[in-house]
Amino acid sequence: MMEQVRIVEVGPRDGLQNEKQDVSTEIKLELIERLAVAGLRDIEVTSFVSPKWVPQMADQAEVMRGLRRWAGVNYPVLTPNLKGFEAAVAEGASEVAVFASASEGFSQKNINCSIDESIDRFVPVLDAAKRQGVKVRGYVSCVIACPYDGAIAPRQVAHVAARLYELGCYEVSLGDTIGVGTPGSVLPMLEAVAARVPLAALAGHYHDTYGMATANVHASYDFGLRVFDSSVAGLGGCPYAKGATGNVATEDLVYLLHGLNASTGIDLDALVDCGAWISAQLGRENGSRVGRAVLAKRS
Ligand code: HMG
Ligand code: MG
Repeated sequence: MMEQVRIVEVGPRDGLQNEKQDVSTEIKLELIERLAVAGLRDIEVTSFVSPKWVPQMADQAEVMRGLRRWAGVNYPVLTPNLKGFEAAVAEGASEVAVFASASEGFSQKNINCSIDESIDRFVPVLDAAKRQGVKVRGYVSCVIACPYDGAIAPRQVAHVAARLYELGCYEVSLGDTIGVGTPGSVLPMLEAVAARVPLAALAGHYHDTYGMATANVHASYDFGLRVFDSSVAGLGGCPYAKGATGNVATEDLVYLLHGLNASTGIDLDALVDCGAWISAQLGRENGSRVGRAVLAKRS
């Protein structure tokens, strides 16, 4: 039987949030549309965070209003607190994501509070979401290492992941925010987390700073993970993790998974077109090795 893998495209959010140039709402909406055309069914479209902290996401309401909302496509958004949750739901969000960190240093820099305080802020979000039938995903950042605190113990990641799961997050996405992990560090982390949270409720969110993201996906897939986050053309980086690059490129992820005979529902050619288009719009080199190879073969 062919294994099914769900891909959560985070390019419009994680990919663009760190982009220095102003990206118009129109381009963001066209990117989201092209991703849906390529077969993506989970597209994280924006974040309801403070525009003072992340100016690129200041048009979150306009993005939500402009979505074409295909049937069968989920358009989750990031919400750090109840204020963000309420604003997101007012714009029609039916899925949100809360984000915690496994490290205190990153929690302070990213969301201006401790890990415990961040979890306290998520409680009313999860309560309101339950009442309103909104799905909530949870992120844990810095699952391997933190740019401020250094290496992070697997049991600490498991502790934060378990708290998010127990609060009611249907899935917990494990973020190697600064992309330093290898299968040698990712697997012990997954073992610790999977002892506390069901494997089916875990996702891998690997940034590619050291070029290890596809290796980490492969090891995680063999371990049993069936959900991965990625950014088309490898867009991105986190504003509070200096020097960290984008997520694993969606094109590279799809090529790997199809090579492992897993099904993703994604049309690689259409995805490559989408990656080429957004790279040209941003004036950036295409960050996907697979994208560049497919384009070179065509010309
Ligand atoms: P704060 O300053 O501590 O918040 O920021 P506050 O409650 O004291 O409020 C200060 C001001 O922000 C007030 O406005 C609030 O109204 C406003 P003022 O009175 O000064 O005009 N405010 C908001 N505005 C809009 N939307 C909101 C909101 N909440 C308060 N939701 C806060 C705390 C969390 C808001 C801030 O730190 C923040 O917005 N941080 C976001 C950081 C961020 O987006 N980081 C990137 C995403 S995480 C990531 O990339 C990692 C991930 O990809 C996984 C991985 O790779 O590991 C997910
Ligand atoms: Mg990220």
